[in-house]
Amino acid sequence: MTDNEALSAKALSLISHKLRTPLSIINGYSEAVLSQAEKESFSPFTTKALEEINKQGSRMSLLVDKLMAFNQVITADSKNLEKQPVALKELIKECASKVIAQDEGVLPAQPVKGVKRGTFVEIDCSAQLTLLANADMLRLAVAELLENAIKFNNKMEKIIKVQVANHGDSISISVRDYGVGIRPQDVSQIFEPFYQVDDYFTGQVSGWGLGLPMVQRILNLHKGTISVVSDRGLGSIFTLSFPL
Ligand SMILES: Nc1ncnc2c1ncn2[C@@H]1O[C@H](COP(=O)(O)OP(=O)(O)OP(=O)(O)O)[C@@H](O)[C@H]1O
Ligand SMILES: [Mg+2]
Repeated sequence: MTDNEALSAKALSLISHKLRTPLSIINGYSEAVLSQAEKESFSPFTTKALEEINKQGSRMSLLVDKLMAFNQVITADSKNLEKQPVALKELIKECASKVIAQDEGVLPAQPVKGVKRGTFVEIDCSAQLTLLANADMLRLAVAELLENAIKFNNKMEKIIKVQVANHGDSISISVRDYGVGIRPQDVSQIFEPFYQVDDYFTGQVSGWGLGLPMVQRILNLHKGTISVVSDRGLGSIFTLSFPL
């Protein structure tokens, strides 16, 4: 890393750390006050305003977390990467619960009446399967693919299928969604930092456009690869492949 790159990485890390404290205060207080709404008979306007403050605060916290994670992964050194055997089914389950909870935290407060809503992650993975990897990074990579599978999907009921396979010389983890899909001309660009497909189909997108570049870097650090097959309107399959 050059001196300038090291300085940018340090600045990014410092900015993220400094934003974390005020954000956790905003989120903590808005939640605490909201929990009093019924008892204190707040007006609908006050409750709505508090809910919006809390929702946007939570979104901003997720943005800061992503920035920090990206920075950590980009500056990590492949020679000093700590690896341990990771039980894959457990790790995927853990990521799915976290990502679903996160998504529910930023959904509109009032569900649409009579519409079935929910995210269902089906995991096809043998319980014994382990992979020698950096557990924190693997968690970041799987959570990112799940997060995208939920985010780029306009359906009320979202089905995501995760399939893990042992091919003898490699292990693959694929995440399939039935969301908006990606046009061929965009596929080659989605691994570029800050690139986001933003058009009439997806509308305005939250996030930085840093998730997939981060996943790609995690795979590079493990000498693995990431690939994608996608059909606009039908969905996408992202596959991570780790050599054994
Ligand atoms: N599962 C998916 N289905 C459809 N489009 C996707 C999917 N995953 C990624 N994309 C497209 O690729 C772009 C880049 O993805 P990436 O994860 O890097 O960024 P992001 O999710 O927009 O922001 P961030 O990850 O920083 O929160 C997305 O903005 C979206 O347009
Ligand atoms: Mg993303």
